[in-house]
Amino acid sequence: MLNFTFKSPTEFVFGRGTEDQVGDLVKKYGGTKVLIHYGGGSVMRSGLYGRTVASLEKAGLSHVSLGGAKPNPVDSLVYAGIELCRKEKVDFILGIGGGSAIDSGKAIAAGVPYEGDFWDFYSNKAKPGEVLPHGCIITLPATGTEGSDSTVITRESDMLKRGMSAECNRPLFAIMNPELTFTLPPYQTACGVADMMSHILERYFTNTRNVEVTDRIAEALLMTIVRNGPIVLREPENYDARAEILWAGMLAHNNICGTGREHDFSVHQLEHELSAMYDVAHGAGLAALTPAWIGHQIPHNPMRFAQLAVRVFGCPMNFEDPTSTARDGQSKLAAFFRSIGMPVNLQELDERIKKDDIPALTAKVKRKPDGKVGWFRPLADADIVAIYESAFDWKD
Ligand code: NZQ
Ligand code: ZN
Repeated sequence: MLNFTFKSPTEFVFGRGTEDQVGDLVKKYGGTKVLIHYGGGSVMRSGLYGRTVASLEKAGLSHVSLGGAKPNPVDSLVYAGIELCRKEKVDFILGIGGGSAIDSGKAIAAGVPYEGDFWDFYSNKAKPGEVLPHGCIITLPATGTEGSDSTVITRESDMLKRGMSAECNRPLFAIMNPELTFTLPPYQTACGVADMMSHILERYFTNTRNVEVTDRIAEALLMTIVRNGPIVLREPENYDARAEILWAGMLAHNNICGTGREHDFSVHQLEHELSAMYDVAHGAGLAALTPAWIGHQIPHNPMRFAQLAVRVFGCPMNFEDPTSTARDGQSKLAAFFRSIGMPVNLQELDERIKKDDIPALTAKVKRKPDGKVGWFRPLADADIVAIYESAFDWKD
């Protein structure tokens, strides 16, 4: 196990009716004038927006609103939000909705006190110092942004999608009411399941040895998601199953599964360029890449993949040929994605994706300073091309 610091300072307020506490929570964290930032309207239809305003007013807080954060949120709305907050002297950002609205709100929170261009934070030119205090009400279990140190924004001028990680991105509070997820369409529900599984797998595939406790936490989360994912798809208003998925989504990405170990995160880097270029859902993009990525990476450490196959998917261990067990796990994972309506290759993801686009996709993928992607078996250009090509028409 490696040395580590683990800090997850967000106050999580979980359960039925918890959104009614939002006014008191903003007040507790010093907000007086709030920007309510949201997406395309689901929070209006569900009544969450109205209840949020009522709770803020009851607590004696004023607010302004900015909607329109679209899936794969873009920089233009962040600039508009920064301008609005400065003009209105907003001192607290409240993101309500899915990961896109909350990520866009995090970007606004970082941009308001900064004199330069907020994109500097996403292009590694600057680190955010002071940020406006921010909290959230999450309605889509997927990204884990409610507890994560990350925000992901797309720059429209060249459709470059970039993440920014910093401790100040962790919300002061996150309200998590499973009932707010009842209205999710099946496709978004399944995308969320795929995304949270990927957040765990990106940390599970590690070169660090002796990380048993984090392995077991990761496996427990994966098993819980695999069990409850199909239940929420069958019974969208099953509170208990929705609650399991909602909490698992947070635990998948607040880095409890990454303690004491090196992570990978190469599938995410390859996916971000897919969702930037074709505006596909992030979770679906991950599902479409993961089986091919596993196929490419099994030779690096077959036992690691076999462990996942045995412990999470119940595959029998073939001690003479761990690679065959690893491949069984790859098949089970792909079958699971299929069973919840997720694509397992790029053709299934979106028919607009062409093989000819692979060089352009490859060129855009964010690299580490050494020019490679990820840590498990770092990907050079030829690996990235090979994975996109294998993912193009991957089948079991
Ligand atoms: O926009 P509205 O009208 O709110 O509708 C949304 C949107 O159409 C809808 N939705 C959300 N909650 C709903 C609902 N519809 C009905 N009922 C509800 N309860 O779902 C659609 C998708 O929402 P979006 O916020 O785009 O999805 P998600 O939460 O998956 O966020 C995706 C974004 O987060 C980034 C992704 O790259 C992508 O840009 N990520 C952020 C991370 C982070 N901050 O830590 C980590 C992730 O790996 C990821 O990269
Ligand atoms: Zn993700």
